[in-house]
Formats: sequence, C-alpha cells, structure tokens
Amino acid sequence: MLNRRKFVQASFLSSAALFFNKTIIAAGSSDFIKNNPIVLSTWGDNVKANAEAWKILSSSGRALDAVEAGVQIPEADPADQSVGYGGLPDRDGKVTLDACIMDENANCGAVMFLENIMHPIKVARLVMEKTPHVQLAGEGALQFALANGFKKENLLTPESEKAWKDWLKTSNYDPTTTPKLLEQKNVPGQQNNHDTIGMIALDAAGNLSGACTTSGLAFKMRGRVGDSPIIGAGLYVDNEVGAATSTGVGEEVIRICGSHTVVELMRQGMSPELACKRTVERMIKKRGSKIKELQVGFIALNTKGEFGSYALQKGFTYAVQSKAGVKVYNSKSIY
Ligand code: GLY
Repeated sequence: MLNRRKFVQASFLSSAALFFNKTIIAAGSSDFIKNNPIVLSTWGDNVKANAEAWKILSSSGRALDAVEAGVQIPEADPADQSVGYGGLPDRDGKVTLDACIMDENANCGAVMFLENIMHPIKVARLVMEKTPHVQLAGEGALQFALANGFKKENLLTPESEKAWKDWLKTSNYDPTTTPKLLEQKNVPGQQNNHDTIGMIALDAAGNLSGACTTSGLAFKMRGRVGDSPIIGAGLYVDNEVGAATSTGVGEEVIRICGSHTVVELMRQGMSPELACKRTVERMIKKRGSKIKELQVGFIALNTKGEFGSYALQKGFTYAVQSKAGVKVYNSKSIY
C-alpha cells in the first residue's frame, strides 16, 4: 500500500511525466520513479556533483559534458580527501590522480599517475579527443596537460599532509575502505573516506556517458594505479545497453573487469541492481575471505533510465538526480 509520502511523490511524478510527455519507468531498485535525463554518482555526498551535471542535462545538454562538469566538483573540493585537490597522498607524500571518461560512441580517454593537475578528468577528455590513444600515464600525461594549457598546482592540502605524517608514524598500509572498519582500526585521515567518484548519466537525447576520477587509495605505493582510469574496470558505457562505474578497492575491480561485467550482465537482460549484485558475487566466488573486509561498490544505469547498485559491505551510498528530484540511496550489500 502507498503511504502518504509515496502517494504524494507518485502523484507529483505522474503529473510531471504528463507535463513532460515522458514515460515513467518503474524503479527496479526502489520507489524512486525515473526517466531521462538522469545522473547518478557513487557516494551520497556527490549530490553536489550531480547538481552540476544536472545544469547541463536539464537544458538538453550532452551526457558527456554533464559528467565531465559534475566530477570537477569533488576534484576541486579540498575537503574531499579521495579525489583531486586535497586527495590523500601516496606513501611518499605525493598526490597522484587517476581519471577516465567514456561517451556513447565508445570514445574514451584516461590519465593515470598524474600529478599537480587539479582536473584530471579534463585531461582525460582531451586524451580522448586530441590523441590517437586511450591512456596517458605519469610524466607523459603531465607533459600533455601542460602542452594543452593546464597549470601545475600543489594538490597536497595541510590536512592531507598531516594525515600522511600521522600515517608515517606506523606506515601500516591498509586498503580497507569501509568507514566503520576504518574507525575501528583508527586509520589516520581515512575515517570519512568516501572514495572515488564514478558518475554515469543518460541525457535527454537518450545517450549515455560516464566519468570516474580519484586520488586512489590513501598511502598507496608510488606508481600504483587503481581501477578508476581503466576502461572496463572503473567505468564502462555501452549505448545499446547501459553504463556502470565502481568505487572501493580497485585491485579487486580490475581482476574481474568489474564495470564491463555489470554492463554485459545487463545486456543479458538483468536489471542494473541484479547485474551489480552478480558482479559482486563473482568477486566473492573468486576471492572469498581475502575480500571479506574490503569495500567495493558498483552503480549501474540502463538505456531506459533504470538504475541500481550493489556493494560488498554496508555503508555504500549513491546519489541520483532526475526530473523527479534528488535522492541518496543506501546500497544493498553482501555483508
Ligand atoms: N577505486 C579507486 C582506487 O582503487 O584507486
């Protein structure tokens, strides 16, 4: 039975759908009724990033432009210690960034192990549009960015430097990213770790795109690259099927080509939520107890604007914005 809140929401959305002459698609994962355009991002805090993307999507802009603009919000936010400026450094105290972007035509670009550039996602887009390559890494990526007008900036904030110096006292590397477990283990600087932003969107024209950007796991080995800039691991878009992106311990996502797996399962007819769930189950089947304390979460969106998620651990949230409004979901999880 509909409670009052759901009833009011459903009535409003039905009227809105009539007004916009759009089909409302029943939600597979929740009571949130969707249509296109729509944008979703890993982690509830990224409602701010979605709002930026929404400015473009709601004025009939392209999903590619929307996701590129959206993820720049956490990239420039010094309070977000998992992405861009203010990201926690590697074990040598250097902030190194990974990002990728993919459009509806399988065009894609990525940068990895990039230092001193605030917006790696913009460089990734230029790799896609201005080079014959898909990925640029390290010094080469930096050289390309500088040649295209980007300026070098210090991305290590005093807060992240302090967290690194605290960490140096033990130098105990722990890739556990579940906030609750981090709290129990008292990992310096990571108590509120929200990890990577992966953003996927479906625009008014019915085209999908995605972007993913991160400073990677805190205090990682120098040169370590995670899933986020790897097309098929941290992000995948297929305009005939859907899009998926991931957050959490990238090594585990790479092993199973996570986002590509989610999209392929949707191609077989699974809902976004079920595709994410089956992908997480596959990780467990392969890795068992080795990943029991690690967090990985996937979000997925199909061509109809249906969306869903699944995670290894409790605590993974994601943010959605569409004409129906803004909503943060608690993802279902295995553990
Ligand atoms: N998912 C982010 C990373 O592993 O670097």
